[in-house]
Amino acid sequence: MHSLNVTLTRNQIADFVNLGFLAIDRITANDEIGQLREIFDRLFDARTGESRGLFYDLAAPRGHAGRNLLPQVLGPDLHVPELRESTYYRNARALGATLLGVPEDELTIGGHMIMKPARYGAETPWHQDEAYWDPNVVMNSLSVWLSLDEATVESGCMQFIPGSHQSEDVHEHRHIDDDPLIHGLVTDHVDPTHAVSCPLSPGGATFHHSRTLHHTGANRTPAVRRAYILVCSGPADERDTPAHRPWQQDERNALARAGIDVQVF
Ligand code: NI
Repeated sequence: MHSLNVTLTRNQIADFVNLGFLAIDRITANDEIGQLREIFDRLFDARTGESRGLFYDLAAPRGHAGRNLLPQVLGPDLHVPELRESTYYRNARALGATLLGVPEDELTIGGHMIMKPARYGAETPWHQDEAYWDPNVVMNSLSVWLSLDEATVESGCMQFIPGSHQSEDVHEHRHIDDDPLIHGLVTDHVDPTHAVSCPLSPGGATFHHSRTLHHTGANRTPAVRRAYILVCSGPADERDTPAHRPWQQDERNALARAGIDVQVF
């Protein structure tokens, strides 16, 4: 068992509240990074969970047969429960609770892993995570983005628009290439000249609020770029009327038309 306790300063907490994101040098111990990489590679090599809709390409139509552009594994801890005992998980839970202002025992945590293959990964276009989620609630969530590799602008590190989490509601989104069989979303309500890039060394992490506009570029380097993301959510507020997110229904309709029977996560 590795251990590394990370705490945040008052300034870091204030930055997250004001800007909607925060980067820290380290969220897990060095010797855990190797173990997490092994688990990551094993899950992607086996396309774990594909038949249940838990492995797919974020940037290509469902069921495409080509090389993976931006493959994703959802719920890696469903397959490897010991991930929940990791230093990363423990620190993410503690820091997530602090940043959201929610007691740890009221936090729910979900996870996913995203790979940008060497010299191949597609860009992840600008979006707000909440655009993917339940339109009946307002979320109080953040994502912790752990880099298992050197993440640079060239390899696809996270980039954020400061203050964008304060948008009155989720912006209009559409599917990548306007193809609702592609799960990935993009919004055009963004001025990329305000973007702040957050390069990280292995073991470093960023936090971003569920409404913060973010993006990563394609991976132009000869090395894979692996990220393990934990989404921490406090109790959500019910909306009186559901938010207008027609892109979600577009995707369900397109999947039904194509005869692809997967649950959309
Ligand atoms: Ni995102």
